[in-house]
Amino acid sequence: MLGGQLLYEGKAKRVYVKDENTLLMEFKDVVTALDGVKVSQAPGKGVLNAALSAFFFRLLESRGVNTHFIGYDGGRVLTVRRLKMVPVEVIVRNYAYGSLIKRLPLYKPLSKLGKPIVEYHYKSDELHDPLILPEDILNTGLMSGEELNTVNEVSLRVNEVLSSELVRYGLTLVDFKLEFGRDANGRLLVADEISGDTIRVIDAEGRHLDKEVFRKGGSVEDLIIAYSTLARRLGINVGFRCT
Ligand code: ATP
Ligand code: TYD
Repeated sequence: MLGGQLLYEGKAKRVYVKDENTLLMEFKDVVTALDGVKVSQAPGKGVLNAALSAFFFRLLESRGVNTHFIGYDGGRVLTVRRLKMVPVEVIVRNYAYGSLIKRLPLYKPLSKLGKPIVEYHYKSDELHDPLILPEDILNTGLMSGEELNTVNEVSLRVNEVLSSELVRYGLTLVDFKLEFGRDANGRLLVADEISGDTIRVIDAEGRHLDKEVFRKGGSVEDLIIAYSTLARRLGINVGFRCT
């Protein structure tokens, strides 16, 4: 339990108010899959995902991408800017996998896409985060045209930065999910997390270093090994402080 008022508890994180403009995001040792139906305790996962998120946010900031990241000093908590979240999940895909293949089985698993696909999903547990069209976003006012262009451009830029960084370590970025939020000036920032839960990464042997391990029926131990391997490959020193 952290100091500050608990603002929100979700499946993967607890969010606390630090001050008017700042939140603390605490990553839980819980893993969920199948729309929250499969839930397990996963000791060590919180620290790993906090460390991975801090690594990726710092990388993005160093390449000029604006994110909500403020600080991380080890452990399971990230300090971030408080934003008004846009209830849209942006998925960028480089290779066909997951729900893309379920939606259209014409795609061969892990076939490289001609160019990256950017998908939008409306964030709603009740509706199971349905795929929506850019026109839906504009018609319903979820984002303005200008904002949608920014989100599209930034998501593709994030893809370039992450893909090229992972390639340096012999890893391939299959796909990932981003969330965006608006700051007090209406500026859109990349928010939430970028971790083993929200990306798919494979090594040269095609082994998943992400949540796919668990989605496919692997154990919590397998999941922790996958996330630890990803962190180690990226040179991240994870201090296993699980309190
Ligand atoms: P899902 O897993 O479907 O994203 P959840 O609500 O279970 O849903 P958690 O990751 O457990 O997700 O909770 C974190 C919550 O904090 C999310 O609702 C996310 O949109 C929100 N959030 C992330 N970054 C910020 C931020 N900078 N400011 C305000 N809210 C944020
Ligand atoms: P996707 O293939 O759409 O879904 P599924 O996991 O059901 O096969 O997932 C694409 C990427 O987005 C993948 O890296 C996992 C990530 N993602 C999330 O982080 N949160 C989500 O709620 C969903 C559906 C996907």
